[in-house]
Amino acid sequence: MSIEPELHLDTADLEARVKGIYEQVADNPSQEFHFETGRALAERLGYPPWDLDQIPSAAVDSFAGVGYFHDLAALKPGERVLDLGSGSGTDSFLSSISVGARGSVIGIDMTAAQLAKARRLAAEAGNLFDNIDFREGRIESPAVEAGSMDCVISNGVINLAPDKDIVFAAAADALRRGGRLVLSDIVTRSQMPETVTCDASLWAACIGGAMRVESLMTSLDAAGFLVDTTRANDDYRFLSRRARKATDKYGVTSLSVLCHKA
Ligand SMILES: C[S@@+](CC[C@H](N)C(=O)[O-])C[C@H]1O[C@@H](n2cnc3c(N)ncnc32)[C@H](O)[C@@H]1O
Repeated sequence: MSIEPELHLDTADLEARVKGIYEQVADNPSQEFHFETGRALAERLGYPPWDLDQIPSAAVDSFAGVGYFHDLAALKPGERVLDLGSGSGTDSFLSSISVGARGSVIGIDMTAAQLAKARRLAAEAGNLFDNIDFREGRIESPAVEAGSMDCVISNGVINLAPDKDIVFAAAADALRRGGRLVLSDIVTRSQMPETVTCDASLWAACIGGAMRVESLMTSLDAAGFLVDTTRANDDYRFLSRRARKATDKYGVTSLSVLCHKA
């Protein structure tokens, strides 16, 4: 169970703001956000340029992840992957290549513009990405068969969910026993005050909803995961002055985690 304090946040307002921001990330990725987007960010986080060259460049333009985890995921041909919060599709497209025609990828996202972009880019690539299914849905309740996935991935998304325990339980449910959960997300070293955690715009910018590292570990354990590896993504940074002030003060950083379902 999470040990985060109870939140006083209007979740309907939060969802509307999250959708509003990520609609812009899909449709106008070159504008300024609280956070960085695009290929330069992806390369700095560790995405090999030659891998990015294999997928639609417009997907990478809208990349809004916070870490590189494909080396930790070590996807194999034939595996079934679920991408929670697939956005415009960067990690789903890369996973599609790793698992090949015998494997499959399901990308789940709730923002219509992100889904539309990912689907359009997949369609424009002919049959290259036929093994991906981008589905409208919530990461709290992905419509996939229980125990059907080898690996669940998620990049920069779970911090946006008001109840992280529900998301980790859903990931565990989707995975077969021994299946991996691999994520990069924003975490915090110290407890943030309500002026940050209840600020919907800082939440939608991936700061307000960041979990304390110890809460993340407690939640993963409660959902039945055993943690194998954690890795700090020191090259991730926020852009706006307001975001940087909060991140410097409370030790907000990006972390990648590889764990498996016990
Ligand atoms: C920071 S972006 C990351 C997108 C993608 N993983 C990437 O690396 O580019 C967050 C994405 O998560 C989606 N999202 C946020 N909360 C969600 C939820 N509860 N259910 C489904 N999608 C969600 C947003 O629509 C957005 O596309």
